[in-house]
Amino acid sequence: PPYLLPLPNVATLPPKLQAAVDDIEQQFDLPTDKLREITDQMLWEYNKGLSELPTDETRDTFVPMIPSYIQHIPHGKEKGTFLALDLGGTNLRVCEVELLGDSKWRMKQQKYRVSDALKVGDVTALFDYIAGSVDHFLTEIGTTASEDEKLHLGFTFSFPVAQTALAAGTLINWTKGFECKNAVGKDVVQLLQDALDRKHIHVRCSALVNDTCGTLMAAAYERGDCLCGGIFGTGTNGAYVESIDKLTKMGYQADELERNKEQGLDKMVVNTEWGAFDNERKVLPFTIFDSRVDRISINPRKQAYEKMISGMYLGEVTRNALLHLVDSQVLFNGFSSQSLNRHYGLDTAIMSALEAPFVPNSPQSGDALTAIRQVLTSELGISASLIDDADCLAAARISEVVGTRGCRLSACAIAATVRQTGGDARDWPEAKKIIFGLDGSLVEFYPRFEQRVRDALRELLGDEVQKRVDIVLAKDGSGVGAALCAQAAQAMEQKGAA
Ligand code: GLC
Repeated sequence: PPYLLPLPNVATLPPKLQAAVDDIEQQFDLPTDKLREITDQMLWEYNKGLSELPTDETRDTFVPMIPSYIQHIPHGKEKGTFLALDLGGTNLRVCEVELLGDSKWRMKQQKYRVSDALKVGDVTALFDYIAGSVDHFLTEIGTTASEDEKLHLGFTFSFPVAQTALAAGTLINWTKGFECKNAVGKDVVQLLQDALDRKHIHVRCSALVNDTCGTLMAAAYERGDCLCGGIFGTGTNGAYVESIDKLTKMGYQADELERNKEQGLDKMVVNTEWGAFDNERKVLPFTIFDSRVDRISINPRKQAYEKMISGMYLGEVTRNALLHLVDSQVLFNGFSSQSLNRHYGLDTAIMSALEAPFVPNSPQSGDALTAIRQVLTSELGISASLIDDADCLAAARISEVVGTRGCRLSACAIAATVRQTGGDARDWPEAKKIIFGLDGSLVEFYPRFEQRVRDALRELLGDEVQKRVDIVLAKDGSGVGAALCAQAAQAMEQKGAA
């Protein structure tokens, strides 16, 4: 495919290995037409999700498009000190965020490990652990807020939640390897508040936020006008600003819409949960490697799109593809290693390390083969005597092929969102940017992530529209965004009291 990089230290692979690599390349190839088909289908699912509440029968046929109840997009002047909790990435994070009011913020944060046992145990144990971490944070790290005011906390909970208010929502289902019992259908704010109260912690959870909405809020605070917040990390998902008259499933009457408009409340942030796109497998390019990953995952037949894109799964797809080459006796002399045999034994960070030498002029590109060999031996435990130069090139190529497919698929969601919001309009003002605040390990660490996404965006939207899209890394956005939501809740409360 034309979008792959030329191999470094060009060497020819032995014919059988070359044929096997070609075959995998072909299975992961996503030509422009296919990208278009996927984007069109995503738009179709968007509109279905905006208008229809899912039933048990239709749940897997369109993305959830969850109203977030966030109707105030920050302008950068917001101020105050808030706590933020972030659950759903690699770690639990407790933060204190000071919004300084000039698009700047300060943050103190502490990470807490969530053990595998907590991820699958009873939900009360998980929330007790969370409350304990807040307690630890407040006693050990301390807060700058004065003693007598009850601290407002924004809770970033990065799972699908049926939100019913800014500070209420029930868990729809777990994703990303979490599977706690007695949680689905429960109000997660209540679970958290009860756990905080049990420990007599003087904190009130006043906003429940998905990480994508938080990222959007943070990017808007820092940069102004942000249209979409996206996460490409452990999982993938996006939120964007939608007109409420398109959110027909909320059942607003014409007079309500009119009133909302007068009050400047005619927009709402929608959490798409695009990770669940095409669970029906109508358009996504499933390979046998994807099916293997899906079948032994905690949530088979769910999060179809996420499993081809996000950090939790990319390494696993690559591992399966490499094992196929080993089992075909064309790679590593037909031998594997403990890590390569282990479920989730190839972390997506290893893909970054395998591909870094491909990036022209990168520090590793000098002796690419040595760099790759080093990764294969030290990170994957393949014995050095089994690896020859061709194996190094093939392994890096497979990683690139899997990762590039992920980036190109990611572009489909971005393009669908641009189109949904009219960003592809001909009369779009030339100077106006379409801002996407993005966060997550792939955005931050995966080599050439943005470039690969942009190449596909150009194919999908044309060069002119692609150039309007401004990708902003909103690092730690979900914590800052949660604080901004807590601030909005506090402001609304004060307005109500006045
Ligand atoms: C998963 C969750 C979603 C979250 C995303 C990124 O897709 O379902 O809520 O936003 O991961 O963390």
